[in-house]
Amino acid sequence: MKFLIINGPNLNLLGKREPGIYGKRTYGDLCQLVRDYAADHGSTADCFQSNHEGAIIDAIHAADGVYDAIVINPAAYTHYSYAILDALKAVDVPAFEVHISHIDSRESFRAVSVTAPACVGQIYGHGFEGYCMAMDHFLKGDKG
Ligand code: DQA
Repeated sequence: MKFLIINGPNLNLLGKREPGIYGKRTYGDLCQLVRDYAADHGSTADCFQSNHEGAIIDAIHAADGVYDAIVINPAAYTHYSYAILDALKAVDVPAFEVHISHIDSRESFRAVSVTAPACVGQIYGHGFEGYCMAMDHFLKGDKG
């Protein structure tokens, strides 16, 4: 399968950013992990990260007809971006939402995801491994 892994704002600072919450591994480490995991399963994973809502929307649009599945961590946009929700709904590529941290046990605003309703599933609180678990959903043949 061809995966597009989309990461939203501030995730480029993984490793430096609040390591007590997000861990010490970097964004580069995350990309390596998902690429290796995809390769081990006869697949490919391209990584895209942006701190800009419009760029993320453009990447979702461009994925249509190119990728089999999107794994997306919209970061803070999760909690208020109806534009990303609409973009995910607008394309024929199924998406799975991932969060590194346990968003339900943090500030109350993080417990709300406005983007998850456009996704076939959501996983949080499993660190970087959550991205592999999201890919597993598609690799096991359930395209949602
Ligand atoms: C996050 C959780 C969000 O609430 C936060 O704004 C992030 C990262 C996570 O992966 O745990 O930037 O999506």
